[in-house]
Amino acid sequence: MRGGPFLMKRFLLVVLIGFPALAADRAPDIVKYRQSVMKAMAAHMTSMSLVVKKQVSDRSQLAAHAIALRDLSGGLPKFFPRGTGSDKTKTAAKNEVWQRFPEFESAFQKLERESNALADAAKRGDANAFDAQFENVANACASCHRTFRVRDSD
Ligand code: HEC
Repeated sequence: MRGGPFLMKRFLLVVLIGFPALAADRAPDIVKYRQSVMKAMAAHMTSMSLVVKKQVSDRSQLAAHAIALRDLSGGLPKFFPRGTGSDKTKTAAKNEVWQRFPEFESAFQKLERESNALADAAKRGDANAFDAQFENVANACASCHRTFRVRDSD
């Protein structure tokens, strides 16, 4: 390996320190991270909605958008560790997130399932099923926001 044992040691150090990282990361950075993922998910939704509303006719990227939503949502509960609520930092996450964490987690699992079904419809090329399932995904976003986010716009 180029760089030899020194680089190797550095690599191990990064791995060892890296694992409990989320707990040690600064709260504002964790919030910024999860808000950025949410914005990315919203951009996927906007792209797909243009197709669902028939303003854009090319359906070739629908599966990619749906898969991105599925893959991102599954891992998101980790980015809501304790200590990142509005008592500690600026965030739109309500305290209910930590008071009812299992419910919060299952709302993410619901989004994961719904976007998986959306990806399946896209892969089958079933436009009617896709358009109907898109509503279910949008509802999965909205229903979590109603309960767990301070403002429930968008
Ligand atoms: C399980 C709950 C949950 C689900 C599901 C969910 N969100 Fe969120 N979302 C939140 C919470 C909580 C916040 C506030 C995060 C913060 O400020 O720390 C948020 C914030 C946002 C924001 C604002 C980001 C910013 O810049 O502050 C957008 C946009 C958003 N979500 C879009 C979506 C979309 C689109 C979906 C569905 C594809 C979705 N969310 C699914 C809980 C959820």
